[in-house]
Amino acid sequence: MTSTEPSAPPADRFRADVLAGLSRPRKQLPAKYFYDAAGSRLFDAITELPEYYPTRTELGILRARAGEMAARCGPRCLLVELGAGSLTKVRLLLDHLGRPAGYVPVDVSGDHLRGAAAALAGDYPALTVIPVVTDFARPFRLPDVTAARRVAFFPGSTIGNFDPPEADALLRRVARLVGPGGGLLLGIDLRKDAAVLERAYNDAAGVTAAFNRNLLVRINRELGADFDPAAFRHVAFYDRACSRVEMHLVSTTAQRARVGDAAFAFRPGESIHTENSYKYDVAEFATRAAACRLRLDETWTDPHGDFAVLYLTAV
Ligand SMILES: C[S@@+](CC[C@H](N)C(=O)[O-])C[C@H]1O[C@@H](n2cnc3c(N)ncnc32)[C@H](O)[C@@H]1O
Repeated sequence: MTSTEPSAPPADRFRADVLAGLSRPRKQLPAKYFYDAAGSRLFDAITELPEYYPTRTELGILRARAGEMAARCGPRCLLVELGAGSLTKVRLLLDHLGRPAGYVPVDVSGDHLRGAAAALAGDYPALTVIPVVTDFARPFRLPDVTAARRVAFFPGSTIGNFDPPEADALLRRVARLVGPGGGLLLGIDLRKDAAVLERAYNDAAGVTAAFNRNLLVRINRELGADFDPAAFRHVAFYDRACSRVEMHLVSTTAQRARVGDAAFAFRPGESIHTENSYKYDVAEFATRAAACRLRLDETWTDPHGDFAVLYLTAV
């Protein structure tokens, strides 16, 4: 494994984002802050839940079609994975890629990424692995690696956590990052029955609830706040008009919480909006991507049409 280039979002940005989000008339917090070490472990536990279909469905598509995806990426590509997490899915791709020039996993969850990258480098000794700890939604530099082509791998429907204008800005940035002729292999979750969607974000074991509340635990630990996470209920529902699952933390009582010197009052039933997960239609998504200089070349999906993996080329 080559040396890392850590530049995790600074604590003052975390504090500023939390204070700004809690000061809004409808309180909200950015979803990227779910992922401290505990949040990354909880997310991995979510991916194993019977209700959470996205991970096993996307893995099924990758298992069946990784050879075709690798052929699209081409030989000697530099593979850049955005929101890389535990680096599970990329292994299926790496097993088919022809002599990749290198692999650059990018994630905000620094310790988790470094551990996963070291394990992957041990399993693929011939591969140059260069983890980058940063916020991929902000400008960042790729390591200088000579490659036939750059391909971004962005699985997990993490794009769905961004509101449409932010998602479009991110797509444009990815198109610039890989350059003309470069690729984006992207996982997107598709529209489906609301009951299936709502089950996926309201698991019986309460792991998603723990993941959601962990955000308050993290804010307490890192920003000297005094939230009582048990006094907030996990709520997740599908908003059909916006085509997204929303996650909230809803105050069970009238309460106040302090974040450093700032104090925030909560009415009973008042929510903090913590995450959106947009659900897509492939044709609509292709039109949006084209406006962001990404041409849809190939679509792979599962037999139920629950999830899709797209190969897009930067033009
Ligand atoms: C939904 S999980 C997906 C993990 C993995 N790619 C998968 O498909 O299972 C989102 C991942 O993206 C990372 N992440 C979320 N927002 C990010 C951001 N703005 N910059 C960098 N990483 C981010 C999280 O730390 C987490 O590992």
